[in-house]
Order: sequence, then structure tokens, then C-alpha cells
Amino acid sequence: MDLKQLNAFIAIADLQSFSGAAKTTGLSQPSLSRLLKQLEADIGAELIDRYHRPLQLTEAGQFFYDKVRVLLAELDTITNMTKRLATPITTLNIGFVPSVLYGLLPEIIAYFKQHNAGDDIEINLKDISSYQQIEALKSGEIDVGFGRFAHQDPWVQQVLLRHERYVVALPKAHPLAKVKEQRLMDLANNRLILYHQTHLPVATTTNRKNTNSQNASSTTEPITEPLLHLFAQYGVTPLMTTKVSDLQVALGLVAAGEGITLVPSSLRAVRPEQISYQRLIHENVTSPIYLHTLKNVVHPKVPELLKAIYRVYEQRGITYRAQQFI
Ligand code: BEZ
Repeated sequence: MDLKQLNAFIAIADLQSFSGAAKTTGLSQPSLSRLLKQLEADIGAELIDRYHRPLQLTEAGQFFYDKVRVLLAELDTITNMTKRLATPITTLNIGFVPSVLYGLLPEIIAYFKQHNAGDDIEINLKDISSYQQIEALKSGEIDVGFGRFAHQDPWVQQVLLRHERYVVALPKAHPLAKVKEQRLMDLANNRLILYHQTHLPVATTTNRKNTNSQNASSTTEPITEPLLHLFAQYGVTPLMTTKVSDLQVALGLVAAGEGITLVPSSLRAVRPEQISYQRLIHENVTSPIYLHTLKNVVHPKVPELLKAIYRVYEQRGITYRAQQFI
């Protein structure tokens, strides 16, 4: 059994045809057919049922496909990491979610550059969602990522930097716009604008809210949308919701009087003429900030970057618990 056979099998299974697999692999159909036959002979099992069109995996083939896909993805990660280790380090590629750009990221980068000026390392910043940062780390596209969600991946370690409190963003003309301390319960009758692209991975509650609808229903499905999850923790289901593509659009809709939303407090400088940002009384309604990096293959400048983050926290009087890399 070899890698060529495995790649041929995956391509045939993915495209459910020899002709489709031939186009993507650049191999001829007879070559693909021969590789598949050799693989099946090595294993002693038929993997693809040739009598159906499009082609179907057999039960054994499906099992083999699921396992081999994971294995090939791991091999890809190992290859990328090895390449990265062998390449001279001239850049530090940083992935970030847009919300941290409104907070301390510019200050942290400035501090880092100032204290690492002699190193000749070029810094590249890439706007990339929390979830995509994990794949980008494994492919070598980024060396470190700043996100707002915890991700479990055997290759990736995460350092919790701090929890940032959420504030309520309301249109200036809203009746609650001047109320200094808000409770989630008092916001339930508003349209809540949802903007997160990454959903929570865990089943945590049994209530569910229908998006863009006036009807709330109870079901066993977990609430994985982050803002709805926060409301649900306080037993609140917003009357109406609207889902948009990002934070900027959400704040644009709030400014236009279309609804309210919750944002990390560092966003409170956005559109201050049209939006009133108010504190929530609930101390636990927070958005964490994580640093993600690969385990064992930490870019040599990432510990310096973490040091810069902690120095900026100290200058700003932000409390943190210092952590180390594996
Ligand atoms: C922060 O606001 O704590 C932060 C922002 C970007 C990177 C690291 C930390």
C-alpha cells in the first residue's frame, strides 16, 4: 500500500467517478483503476462499488475512507510543519479576528516592534476567523492566532489571555440608551443582531430560539450561537433576531436603529455619534481572548509576543494570569 494508491482512492471516492478523479489528479482513468485495484488487493476488500453510477463506497470502503482522510490530513500538517521548521525565519504571520483590532492589538504590535527592532522579522497581519485560524496554523499560513473561541485540536495549544466584558450597543434614540447598568432580561423585547461566524462547539442548554422569527420554541437542540447562548444562561430568549455577516455590519444596523447587539467593550469607540454603549450588570457576560499556536513547534518570536501582551496589560492595569508554552 502506498500514498499514490491512497490519494487515488480518496479522489475517486470524493468525486464518485474515475473521470472526475482523473481531472483533479492528472492521472489517466486506467492508472486510477489500476491503483484502486492494487489497493483493494492489498487490503483484501472491495472499497468502491463500480456497479452504481455515480460510484458508491462499500461499507468497508466508507470505514477506510473516514480513517484515511484523517491520516492524510495529519500527514499534510506534519509536512507543512517540517517545511516551516526547515525554512529560515524571516516573518511572523499573525492571524486575528477583527474585534481584537479595535482593542489592544495595534498597541501590542507597536510594543513588540519597538522591543524587537534589531531582529529583521517582517510582521504580517491576517484577518481570519477563530475557527479558520486552527487550519491556518496547521498549514503554516500563520504562526500565531488571536481569537475569541476555544478550539480543541491535538496540534494546537491555546493560552487564555483575558476575559473582556460585553457591553450593550443601542441606537442613541433607544429608550434604554441612557441606562448605565443594563440587565439582559430588560433587553429581551428588542431585535438582537447576531454577527458571530464561529458557533460554540458544546451542548450547554436545552432552549432554542428561531432566527428571524417572533416565535421561540423549546427543544433539546443546544444553543451554539454565542450571543443567544449568553442570553439563555440568564433564562432570556430575545423576541427577534437578525443574523449578519460581521461585527461592522451589526454595528451599522444598530446605528440605523434596526436593533441592538452585544460587543466586547473595546468596540465602544465605533460610531459613537449614533450608538450608545452601556455596561451590563452581569460580570460573567464576557468574551475571552485566546492566543493560539502550534504545540511543540512554537515560532521563536511568539514567546516575545506574549511578553509584549503582558507588558501592555501591565501598563493598562489589566490583570492577567501569566502562562507558558508547551
Ligand atoms: C487584548 O485586547 O487583550 C488583545 C488583543 C489582541 C491580541 C492580544 C490581546
